[in-house]
Amino acid sequence: MDVKIYDKLAKRYDLATKIVSFGIEELWRRMFAKEIKKHIKNGILIDVASATGEMAKALDFDRMYLIEPSAEMVRVIVEKFQKLGFKKEDFEVVFEESPHIRMKKGQKEIIIIQDTAENVKIEEKADLITAFMALRNFDDLEKGMENLKKSLKPGGYFAIVEMVKSDSLFAKLILWYMNKILPLIAGMMLGMKEEYKLLGKSIDTLKEDEIIKNLKGFGIVKKQKLIFPIATLIIAKKDDG
Ligand SMILES: C[S@@+](CC[C@H](N)C(=O)[O-])C[C@H]1O[C@@H](n2cnc3c(N)ncnc32)[C@H](O)[C@@H]1O
Repeated sequence: MDVKIYDKLAKRYDLATKIVSFGIEELWRRMFAKEIKKHIKNGILIDVASATGEMAKALDFDRMYLIEPSAEMVRVIVEKFQKLGFKKEDFEVVFEESPHIRMKKGQKEIIIIQDTAENVKIEEKADLITAFMALRNFDDLEKGMENLKKSLKPGGYFAIVEMVKSDSLFAKLILWYMNKILPLIAGMMLGMKEEYKLLGKSIDTLKEDEIIKNLKGFGIVKKQKLIFPIATLIIAKKDDG
């Protein structure tokens, strides 16, 4: 996915998402966080395609890596967590194109890495990886998921919410809204008609089977359609040893 679209959207992303999804995305996020907490309550989290950091904010683990390639989204994350009382520790450029920003608040630490799922390198192993509406943005799903899986402890969880291809009538209606109506609303509200046309197109590209195929070495502990069955929730546990 061309991150320039997300750069342009960053400052208005939270509000725009609430409006264009009629609050449904927020509902999905809450259901997702609640389901995750049944399996794991705290530890080391890697949240991929973090956008403005809402998933990390909702889960509030003690140590969180936020992986996000858009520089403008990273800026929004930093401002959001500053408002939540986090202080920027340092700014180190570890790899030429992958800046790490570390922020702390008491015992809590977040590390924001400006990079893609396919390229990011994380030394530490996490207890949980979250990908909320993230996977369809990867340029190479297999490479991105393989790379992330390396940074998960045995017994750790890979938790996913994604919009997937569906043949239901309702899904077709949503697609029509995303492709025809949403760009018009986004055009009027944000001056971003063409960008939302592109985002709408990406909705219909990913099949649930493709996601499952890339979870080799994992056991599926939860799989369900969320309300409005165009989104699927998957929680998978990495095999021990
Ligand atoms: C729909 S948003 C994700 C929403 C977010 N997870 C949340 O909780 O609100 C998609 C994000 O994916 C990011 N992205 C695009 N290409 C990516 C890649 N190859 N790897 C990781 N993130 C990517 C975009 O910059 C954008 O911020």
